[in-house]
Amino acid sequence: VSLKELNTFGVEAYARWLVTINSENDLQELFSDGRWKGVPQLIIGGGSNILFTRDFEGLVIRMNIKGISHEVKGADIFVKAGGGEVWNDLVKYCVGNGFAGVENLSLIPGTVGASPVQNIGAYGVELKDVFYSCRVFNVESGKISVFLKDDCAFGYRDSIFKKSLKGRTLITEVCYKLSAIPDINTSYGAINQELMNRGIESPDIKDISDVVSSIRVNKLPDPSTIGNAGSFFKNPVVSADEFRQLQSVFPDIVHYCLSNSTIKLAAGWLLEQSGWKGKKIGEAGTWKNQALVLVNFGNATGSDIYALSERIIEDVRNRFGVTLEREVNVI
Ligand code: EPU
Repeated sequence: VSLKELNTFGVEAYARWLVTINSENDLQELFSDGRWKGVPQLIIGGGSNILFTRDFEGLVIRMNIKGISHEVKGADIFVKAGGGEVWNDLVKYCVGNGFAGVENLSLIPGTVGASPVQNIGAYGVELKDVFYSCRVFNVESGKISVFLKDDCAFGYRDSIFKKSLKGRTLITEVCYKLSAIPDINTSYGAINQELMNRGIESPDIKDISDVVSSIRVNKLPDPSTIGNAGSFFKNPVVSADEFRQLQSVFPDIVHYCLSNSTIKLAAGWLLEQSGWKGKKIGEAGTWKNQALVLVNFGNATGSDIYALSERIIEDVRNRFGVTLEREVNVI
């Protein structure tokens, strides 16, 4: 089965088998079927954070559980969505109904089920800020349990589902806690700039969603025309000592203080300074408006893109002594 349409890089790769899951029942049936015992399995949602460098000799499980509903409890609104819902459809549902909390996360590619896995974040908000709970299917026990926020070990682009539970669980449903009372977050500079351009002084959540969407459209390539998986690397975190040394050599280094002892660097800046912005090598390259986004200009293979990422890691390490970590899941 071709996976080309199931990964936003649009690279060709084949799976031995593909199954689509439409309900928790489907999952229970699949995993109680002895024929799949010992067969390698790979869970895929929107395919927007994965790079195939080879075929997958096993079973690809496509999460397609749908449905969005909500429950109002005073000023709190609990929104439940199936793991296979498109993330941005959930954002539209919330913004359309006046439920505040996810507007800054507009237009992020991928599915609801994937949202807690890497604690998606953008424009000053992280998923963990609105996450309430999720339903988790354990492939070993075949049982479903509910994880609350504290069970998920959320960190920057990180959670328990990427760590100790990697490959062992599937998220079938997520419950988000939103609010009827908006807490407008314009902490990210680009948002204020764009609001000013539009002459908006007191934005509502619809304004924030529109502004964030337009910033993304201008900065990031649309995966339906140019294959990509958003940021390819994480923004690296360094110690205060390391940072001081770097800053003495590179006074303009773009950074954000996370605490007194840890500083996050802008990986996009490190790439751009290393000459990697808008580069094209064969059919693979980096995006002209955002160096952190690796792209498939047409017929790149997963290995082409992977090889490019290796070269970038090496260059950045040589120049800055910082080792970039891939955020995209490489198969
Ligand atoms: N920069 C450059 N050159 C570049 C790109 C960035 O110099 O080519 C510098 C600029 O100074 C810019 C700063 O880096 O101000 C930050 O860039 P940007 O605002 O684009 O954010 P980012 O840190 O590169 C992160 C997320 C994005 C998210 C944005 C906005 C990661 C790995 N990426 O990118 O997430 O949309 O912030 O919040 O944390 C994704 O995960 O796919 C993704 C797009």
